[in-house]
Amino acid sequence: MSKVLILVGHPDLSRSKHNAALLDGVKDLDHVTVHDLYATYPDFAVDGDAERDLIAQHDVIVFQHPVYWYNTTPLFKQWQDTVLTYGWAFNYEGRRSRTAGKKGMVVVTIGGTQDHYTCEGLVGRTAEELLNNWDSTLRLCQFDIQPVFKLYGTDFGVPHEDVVTAGKQYRALLTSFS
Ligand SMILES: Cc1cc2nc3c(=O)[nH]c(=O)nc-3n(C[C@H](O)[C@H](O)[C@H](O)COP(=O)(O)O)c2cc1C
Repeated sequence: MSKVLILVGHPDLSRSKHNAALLDGVKDLDHVTVHDLYATYPDFAVDGDAERDLIAQHDVIVFQHPVYWYNTTPLFKQWQDTVLTYGWAFNYEGRRSRTAGKKGMVVVTIGGTQDHYTCEGLVGRTAEELLNNWDSTLRLCQFDIQPVFKLYGTDFGVPHEDVVTAGKQYRALLTSFS
């Protein structure tokens, strides 16, 4: 059975509505481990060895966070800088990395609506364009990249039933990886 590791980069999950709702729908799955980065590293002192060990023990790595300033949250950046080291996660010499072949999936909650995230909309870019840094990071690390899972409109009154539907889709997706 494939083991799924969800790395969560929400600054305070106890105050989260949408990331918490998504996690509530999947955390009881036997093959899923939820790892709350902000709770583990409130001082941002990410333990690279411990994080690399965790990744090595899992087959599917999920990177879940709210979109902050069209990007990931600050601790996730620190996590990338500390954990995804040359020689382990990537190299330029064509060697197989330690993350090669693991499924990598980005899961984001987005304050703006889908209409905002268009060429003509308020943001002027799609969410995929803005999250291309994740895509290139996962590509460099030789992940098997999965489509980005998005929940839009979290600051614009996304209907409760849409959150419930997203939770069910998230659960079905992670179950399909088992
Ligand atoms: C500091 C900060 C920056 C944010 N930047 C963005 C942004 O660039 N684009 C966007 O659509 N929403 C932005 N938001 C809204 C969050 O994405 C939204 O509140 C979050 O997805 C809600 O998830 P939660 O209920 O789990 O906290 C921002 C929120 C905060 C607090």
